[in-house]
Amino acid sequence: MKKSMANGIENDWPPIAASRSARNTINPIRRIVDRMKISPNPAKEMISLSIGDPTHYGNMLPPVEALEAILQAVQLPTSHGYPPSFGTLDARKAVAQFWSRSNYQVKPENVILTSGCSHALELCFDCMADPGDNILLPRPGFSLYVTLCQSLGIETRFYDLIPDENWQVNIDHLESLIDDRTRAVLINNPSNPCGAVYTAAHLRKILLVCERNHLPIIADEIYADMVFPNNEFHFLGILSENVPIVSCGGIAKRFICPGWRLGWIVVHDRHNLFKDTIQPGLIDLSSRILGPSSVTQAALSHILSETPESYFDDILHQIQSNADYFYHSLLNTPGLQPIMPQGAMYMLIRINTKDFKDIENDKDFFTKLICEESISCLPASVFGIDNFFRIVLTTPMDKTEEACQRILEFCQRHIKSVT
Ligand SMILES: Cc1ncc(COP(=O)(O)O)c(C=O)c1O
Repeated sequence: MKKSMANGIENDWPPIAASRSARNTINPIRRIVDRMKISPNPAKEMISLSIGDPTHYGNMLPPVEALEAILQAVQLPTSHGYPPSFGTLDARKAVAQFWSRSNYQVKPENVILTSGCSHALELCFDCMADPGDNILLPRPGFSLYVTLCQSLGIETRFYDLIPDENWQVNIDHLESLIDDRTRAVLINNPSNPCGAVYTAAHLRKILLVCERNHLPIIADEIYADMVFPNNEFHFLGILSENVPIVSCGGIAKRFICPGWRLGWIVVHDRHNLFKDTIQPGLIDLSSRILGPSSVTQAALSHILSETPESYFDDILHQIQSNADYFYHSLLNTPGLQPIMPQGAMYMLIRINTKDFKDIENDKDFFTKLICEESISCLPASVFGIDNFFRIVLTTPMDKTEEACQRILEFCQRHIKSVT
């Protein structure tokens, strides 16, 4: 195409192509949300229930101990250079200590620090599968898994989670998907978007399938320990006797600081199955971007060891209060069926589309809810399941109450009248 250049000369530039990797990188959330031309109702203040960023409303902030640690770290002359690509020894020791239990020790050499949990996941996918191989992912599941796999040319296969059994894994379905190109199973516990927390017994069933089929697990444990009372989080690496696990985590959610970009991979490999392959592979791959910020690494030990339990209790209390309020309110809202989470910070709600006179599917629900009520949720089709929507449970209580009231009025307006 002829282009006029700054020097006034017309130049015939051929199209400049983006790489296959760039063309294959699709974020399903952005694809659905950005393509919809939606304007909120100008008469109503926008309430966002869609963004998994707990700092959004300012009611949840990082612990003061973490803020102090960052302020101190930034003043240290030693915190400004390039750390090793897989993280400083002090920071890796801190993560190892954080996850060690009386009956199970994590060693610092088994920890790789990353730029957030997203980077940890990318390294694991990239290290464990070649283009054309496949990785088994949960459905519904966090959309980044698909984005990363497609970008790397890895085939995605989806095992079903069962909504009416607290989103447990359909174990038979999982096993039926395995073939000779399957390289790993991804388990997300506690989970986004479901808020599911798996029991030790359920996790052992998954481990058995993986052991039988010689498949390692990529455990996305970014919501580790974020479970409501009467539920227990089980670290897969501790439970697993024989299946090697790479556990991806970070401080984004538990310490309410997603922008600090500090994540990790903890390698659990009791039988040295990763020792000469995956473990050095992850370290080599980490050298591409040299890991997380040196300042956050310098603060990490203090953040992990000094944050009091009362901080986590308060955050979880806020999340659970929201979960309880939304659950009871939406249970009494015509056409909706919420599924109570056991942890993390999300809830999925089923939309009984046949009960509505003019709501065709979850995307339609999402669009109309924004236009009429200025409430943004996420249509669960972005997570691979139709006719559910996801809400985030980190809003201040006054916004939660207002949101529930508006969703109720919205559904009452759209529900079929009973004859
Ligand atoms: C299940 C899950 N895994 C990973 C991440 C990414 O975490 P990070 O912000 O540390 O990259 C998120 C973020 O929302 C998530 O929900």
